[in-house]
Amino acid sequence: MHTKFKAIRQFLEDEKRVSKWMDQTIDDLAAGDVVIKSEYAAVNYKDARAVTGVGNVISKFPCIPGVEVSGTVVESNDSNFKPGDKVTVQGGRQFGMSRDGAYSEYVRVPSTWVGRLPDGINTFEVVAMGLAAYTSAVAVAELIKKIKPDDGPIIVTGATGGCPSFAIDMLSSLGYFVVASTGKSTENDYLRSLGANKVIGRDEIAGGNKPLEEQRWAGAIDAVGGKPLDDILRSSKERAVVCAFGNASSEVLQTSIYPFILRSVSLVGINANHPVPSRGDTWERMRKGGDLYPKHLYDIAYTIAFSDLKAHCEKLINSGVRGRAVVAF
Ligand SMILES: NC(=O)c1ccc[n+]([C@@H]2O[C@H](COP(=O)([O-])OP(=O)(O)OC[C@H]3O[C@@H](n4cnc5c(N)ncnc54)[C@H](OP(=O)(O)O)[C@@H]3O)[C@@H](O)[C@H]2O)c1
Repeated sequence: MHTKFKAIRQFLEDEKRVSKWMDQTIDDLAAGDVVIKSEYAAVNYKDARAVTGVGNVISKFPCIPGVEVSGTVVESNDSNFKPGDKVTVQGGRQFGMSRDGAYSEYVRVPSTWVGRLPDGINTFEVVAMGLAAYTSAVAVAELIKKIKPDDGPIIVTGATGGCPSFAIDMLSSLGYFVVASTGKSTENDYLRSLGANKVIGRDEIAGGNKPLEEQRWAGAIDAVGGKPLDDILRSSKERAVVCAFGNASSEVLQTSIYPFILRSVSLVGINANHPVPSRGDTWERMRKGGDLYPKHLYDIAYTIAFSDLKAHCEKLINSGVRGRAVVAF
């Protein structure tokens, strides 16, 4: 295939990470046995960091960022996939980080990374949910093993973000009293429309600064780390379960041992970077009709043009967007 197409490719120039628009052909892409014509690609926090060159998301240069894509197979050397199949690639630690990823009108990948669409889900929806809804689903599934709606409120931090928006949706549908913590005073209506029972500011998580504060939270879904996570731990109820998967505030956690040894609080780390073919039960539960299907998918996710991607990533890094943007190719 000699068609020319657009991609964003990141280079390392004088120790600086620089993302450039490129005209590419299939031969320019990393090797693989399946070629997909891209339809949609999500914009995660990680992708925004990659495109803008913040942090060390890309580990091999040059590389096309973007960790999730959906589209139509146009070439396949694996008999499990044929031209015309609707598929998605998401999860894992290579696609869009150390091997060419999603921000390209065509992608080429090993067939073992390619997943089929769940029944009743289209190419937009599979990426609109994608890593964000899946990560929240993994965290919520973990939390609800031990914490029941009658145990008390669940706090969700970074509430207007992609993953947290889905966590609010899922917990609310399951009957939990959800408290959304946000830095955006203008998004009260949005958060309530997803199912939040109460909205508070980023500084209102704990009642004070003591190592143990008033017991407020039966559980938490934390997308931000840093001080907000410490605030949650210090103000959690006895035997609370705190599921943490993000670092939007900080990757450093300073806290004390007291919530753990005096209140038996559990801090559960969530790594949901699983490729679609290995997502198992939790991915199944996210099908339409499943207990973890996000009912407000079309309120949370929206499309942007490929040409607007760089500007959108700048905004996202500065906490200036809500929900989950999806590039429509
Ligand atoms: N462990 C895993 O497997 C996994 C998988 C996916 C994502 N993640 C991580 O989860 C986090 C959320 O990802 P996402 O794609 O949902 O990102 P996102 O859409 O950018 O959401 C992050 C939210 O965090 C809040 N925030 C931003 N900067 C902050 C700051 N300095 N202090 C406190 N809060 C801040 C903002 O919400 P408000 O303005 O409403 O406060 C923002 O919308 C990221 O850290 C990402 O790397 C981890």
